[in-house]
Amino acid sequence: MNSKSLSDNSSSSAIFPGSFDPMTNGHFDIIERSLTLFDTLTIAILENSQKVPLFSVAERIALIEAECRRFNEKRVRVQVRSFSGLLVDFAKHEQCHIVVRGLRAISDYDYEAQMALMNKSLYRDLETVFLIAREENSYISSSIVKQVALLRGDITKFVPPGIKAAILQKLSQGA
Ligand code: COA
Repeated sequence: MNSKSLSDNSSSSAIFPGSFDPMTNGHFDIIERSLTLFDTLTIAILENSQKVPLFSVAERIALIEAECRRFNEKRVRVQVRSFSGLLVDFAKHEQCHIVVRGLRAISDYDYEAQMALMNKSLYRDLETVFLIAREENSYISSSIVKQVALLRGDITKFVPPGIKAAILQKLSQGA
């Protein structure tokens, strides 16, 4: 975990956690809309030993930072970090008490509600804010985009050009 925090007493900040392997247009939509609600956003990439990722955590950080440059032109509004362990511990470390999550469909609800309630019981000051995914992103997931790319389908609509290029490069290397 990085010791520098974006949060301070005069600005509102939130954490957007996930695996982001890779980040899709659905995630970028949530980032863009979060920045209309909060001054700053920390994207928190879970170091998840249970999933075999296409991109290493370092690669995901670099890809997301490159795509988020446009938000940081005048001042830093988005920072990208990785974490392991409990999200609530990361939130406490960042001195942040708001987590943003996207809801794509009603099928996301049970899992998200369970996580939000568990997080709340572990850290009572933590609030989870849900943003409903735009309709055009409601059927996207990182895995399904990777699967379409693997089967040589066109993923242009689902990820920014830089991430599309990175996926295609990985797959051409036999990943
Ligand atoms: N647009 C597009 N796709 C979206 C999306 C959106 N708005 N929201 C979610 N998704 C997709 C992701 O692409 C991902 O797809 P994949 O499974 O194909 O990779 C899938 O939905 C899962 O989303 P993700 O955000 O990566 O969630 P996760 O379940 O992997 O991780 C954490 C969620 C990191 C918040 C959670 O696991 C966590 O906090 N872990 C830390 C441990 C902890 O604190 N546990 C106790 C609390 S329960």
